[in-house]
Amino acid sequence: MKLFDNKVILAPMAGVTDKAFREVAVKFGVGLTFTEMVSAKGIYYNDKKTKSLLDIKDEKGRIGAQIFGHEAQIISIAARCAEECGATLLDINSGCPTPKVTKNNDGAALMKNPSLFAEVVSAAASSTKLPVSVKIRKGWSDDNINAVEIAKIAERCGASMITVHGRTAAAGYSGKADWSIIKKVVSSVNIPVVGNGDIFKPHHSKAMLKETGCAAVMLGRGVLGNPWLIRDTLFVLEGKEPGPPPGLHEKIEVALWHIGLLVKYKGEYIGIREARKHAMWYIKGIPGSARVRNLMAKAQTYEEMAKCFELLL
Ligand SMILES: Cc1cc2nc3c(=O)[nH]c(=O)nc-3n(C[C@H](O)[C@H](O)[C@H](O)COP(=O)(O)O)c2cc1C
Repeated sequence: MKLFDNKVILAPMAGVTDKAFREVAVKFGVGLTFTEMVSAKGIYYNDKKTKSLLDIKDEKGRIGAQIFGHEAQIISIAARCAEECGATLLDINSGCPTPKVTKNNDGAALMKNPSLFAEVVSAAASSTKLPVSVKIRKGWSDDNINAVEIAKIAERCGASMITVHGRTAAAGYSGKADWSIIKKVVSSVNIPVVGNGDIFKPHHSKAMLKETGCAAVMLGRGVLGNPWLIRDTLFVLEGKEPGPPPGLHEKIEVALWHIGLLVKYKGEYIGIREARKHAMWYIKGIPGSARVRNLMAKAQTYEEMAKCFELLL
C-alpha cells in the first residue's frame, strides 16, 4: 500500500496547512500533505466551517485528512466523510497538547488513556477503506513516556502508519525533539514510522532517517515561509547538493503566489488577514524587513500586500 510519494511529508498545522499551503508544498515536491486538524464532532454536527477544512477535492498529490476526537461512533462518521471528500489517508490526532483539545479527552490526551485510544483507532480502521495513521508524541509527560506501547496498540488496532513527534505533550514545542524515541518505535512495530521534530535544514532529514531508521520524515515549522526546505531535502536525500538559496525576487514571487492562492480560496477579506503571518515568515531575516512587517500587519488587500513586498527591493 503506497502511503506517500516520497520520503518528505508536510506536517498537519492548524491555521497553516490549508488548501493554499498544500498547493505550494506539492509544487515544491512534497510526498504527502495533511489538512489542518479537523474536529470529528464538527463533522458529525455538519458544521460548515469544520467541513470547509476537508475541501480537498481535485487537489494534486496524496492528502491525509487529520481528525481529532475520542468517541468511536463520531470517529467512524468523520472517517467516512474524509474518504468521501477525497483524502488518501486518515490520520488520528493523538498528539495535540492544547488544553482546549486535551480537556475533552482528544489529541494527546488519548495517549493517557490507551484503552480509549485503541477504541478510536479500531473505529477509524473499521469504518473506512482508507489507510489509517496516528500522530503521536513521545508520551504525555516525562513520567509517562509510552510512545512504544501506544504505537503497538495502534498497529494491533489496524493502523497502517505512525508518526512520532519526539516531545512529550507537556513539553509542547519547547526543548529539543528526542529522536531516540522514534528509533524505539521503529524497532517495535512492523508498519512505517514517520519521524517528526526539529527538521530545519535539509541535512537534518538525512540524519533523522539514518539515526532512527524511520520510513519518512515530516517537516513542520521549518517549512513556514520556506517551502524550499522541501525541495532541498529531496535533493539531499537523492544524494545531490541542496539548491541555491532563493534570492529576494524568487522569495517575493513565491510569497505572492501563495498569498494569491489564499485570496482565491478564501476571498480577499479572510485571505489577506490569514496571509499576514505567512508574509512575515517569508521575509524573516531579510535586511530592512522590520518596517515592512508593521505595514504587512495592516495590509487589507492583495495590492497593499504586494506593495509591502516591493519596499524590500
Ligand atoms: C502552528 C502549528 C500548528 C500545528 N497544528 C497541528 C495540527 O493541527 N495537528 C498536529 O498533529 N500537529 C500540529 N502541529 C504540530 C506539527 O505537526 C509538528 O508535529 C510539530 O511542529 C513538530 O515538528 P517541527 O519541529 O518540524 O515543527 C502544529 C504545529 C504548529 C507549529
